[in-house]
Amino acid sequence: MQHLPVLVAETLEWLAPRRGGWFVDATVGLGGHAAALLQASPGAQLVGIDRDSEALERAARRLAEFGPRVRLVQARFDRLEQAVASLGLDRVAGVLADLGVSSLQLETAERGFSFRRDGPLDMRMGMSEVTAADLVNETAEGELERIIREYGEERQARRIARAIVLARAERPFETTGELKRLIDRVKGPRAAREERIDPATRVFQALRIAVNQELAGLERFLEEAVNLLATDGRLVVISYHSLEDRIVKNTLRDLARGEIDPVTGRSRSESQLIEALTRKPVRPSEAEVAFNPRARSARLRAARRL
Ligand SMILES: C[S@@+](CC[C@H](N)C(=O)[O-])C[C@H]1O[C@@H](n2cnc3c(N)ncnc32)[C@H](O)[C@@H]1O
Repeated sequence: MQHLPVLVAETLEWLAPRRGGWFVDATVGLGGHAAALLQASPGAQLVGIDRDSEALERAARRLAEFGPRVRLVQARFDRLEQAVASLGLDRVAGVLADLGVSSLQLETAERGFSFRRDGPLDMRMGMSEVTAADLVNETAEGELERIIREYGEERQARRIARAIVLARAERPFETTGELKRLIDRVKGPRAAREERIDPATRVFQALRIAVNQELAGLERFLEEAVNLLATDGRLVVISYHSLEDRIVKNTLRDLARGEIDPVTGRSRSESQLIEALTRKPVRPSEAEVAFNPRARSARLRAARRL
């Protein structure tokens, strides 16, 4: 199983690791971006963080050739400052986050992320308590509808939540296949043609976000990352859906603007923490998407610490 890192050349361009020093990969995953960074820049050292212990084991193997230049920590990225401080480090030269799931998570049926592979309805990336089955079987109908609508941007959220509640009264959901079949039935055969994505995609995305509280930690992560950066330090974030990208865009905009002076109506320059390096999100080339379909929805934003 291969995990091809997305937008690698662009990530290295904006992180500029040739400056040397410590870089943090806050979602080290299988170590693809991390290996590229360490290879490109002999003066760079790397802290790799992931919430998933299985991913960290793989990253450790992949990055072993770089020896003491690499330190790995299991943590959620919204505890970034704590994780970095636990290694005795202070300021860093760059922080990278490549959000979302890895191919390892998606393609391991037992982890329950995929509607293409039947497995237990789990979806935990690591360090989370509830499973997708807990949510589907125990959440009140109204809350289930909200999760599916807000995190999945699914227009048929109400009908799907209703159908889940009716079905689970007969028998609780246990597998990804059972949930997929129910969604297919509710949305009907036309849905796949009209939406041009699998009818189950949005509901699965919604549950994954809710199980792992993916959006909740993102703003805090970005603030902590900016606090950790030394002057001229770089932040690069790759997101894969519009909900994430909106949070990244708005938080970076606020950190770049700083506080507004109530008298002049202008931003106070001393409170401007970063400058945006990318006006618009950077998208992968057609060639990259053809080679690596997972890159399709990627958007990269970069900023520089002032
Ligand atoms: C797209 S993969 C990263 C792949 C990596 N860039 C590579 O090239 O191999 C995303 C990783 O982020 C991790 N992750 C997602 N949310 C996280 C969070 N809140 N804290 C820490 N790690 C997280 C996942 O466990 C997953 O391994």
